[in-house]
Amino acid sequence: MNHEMFMLLWNGGLHKAPITENPHNILDVGTGTGIWAVDIAEKFPSAEVVGVDLSPIQPKWVPTNCRFEIDDVEREWTFNENLFDLIHCRNISQSISDWPKLLKNIYRCTAPGGFVEVCEAGLYPHSDDGTLELDNPLLPFFDLLKTAMIKLGRPPVDGPIMAQQLRRAGFKDVHVTKVKQPWAPWPKDKRLKQLGAIALLQGETGYRAYGLAAFTRVLEMETAAAEKICDDASAAHHNPRYHVYNYVYSVYGRKPTEDGA
Ligand SMILES: C[S@@+](CC[C@H](N)C(=O)[O-])C[C@H]1O[C@@H](n2cnc3c(N)ncnc32)[C@H](O)[C@@H]1O
Repeated sequence: MNHEMFMLLWNGGLHKAPITENPHNILDVGTGTGIWAVDIAEKFPSAEVVGVDLSPIQPKWVPTNCRFEIDDVEREWTFNENLFDLIHCRNISQSISDWPKLLKNIYRCTAPGGFVEVCEAGLYPHSDDGTLELDNPLLPFFDLLKTAMIKLGRPPVDGPIMAQQLRRAGFKDVHVTKVKQPWAPWPKDKRLKQLGAIALLQGETGYRAYGLAAFTRVLEMETAAAEKICDDASAAHHNPRYHVYNYVYSVYGRKPTEDGA
């Protein structure tokens, strides 16, 4: 569902970075089910695509130019330097405790003139018509989740934060795309309505899935209290009165060529 969401958010595209028409090597960091890696391998038959993840959950039946490696991307990298035309990271911010270290590895392994692209969702809900009142149960849920993430040493990121991190790592021409992701099918526009329908489905299980461990194990709350915060937030998410969205970002940057351009 997340992949479908990003495809709709990017108007059918798999990436925003303006990579060349015939890339040779592409890496997907924290590839998950590997669905992005499979699709990009089909899009660019000229490229060798590698997806890396801690969990061996990727399919075996994949294009011949796509493979998966099981590894921890927070440890030292064994890929050759200057290798990848594109290194893609999507929805991994809650997994990463040291972005500067990860981006140092990414920079080293990006080919001169190649790109890194990081796609992440902003944590907080917004509304433009005042329907997200201050007493909305969504807000305590996300306040607590943010507190838990900070306590874990993995604070939430957004577009401007990632852009700064990419520049610090040495990437040039850093570009940020910021789009709205509706949380329910309230928009009139067909594409946004579809996005909202997916988000609403995710809202059915997402609050307990994201919240319970964070609130009980990290913030040491009682289970019943944690469940109530998750269930109240989920009910608010399903309240058709609220016209809520969050921002989703793509941030890409280019590694300078050997002459520094
Ligand atoms: C929310 S999923 C995103 C999956 C995929 N990027 C996508 O957008 O479809 C985050 C993934 O990061 C992986 N992950 C977490 N920590 C990692 C690490 N240190 N090294 C490699 N993968 C990691 C998880 O196993 C999970 O599959």
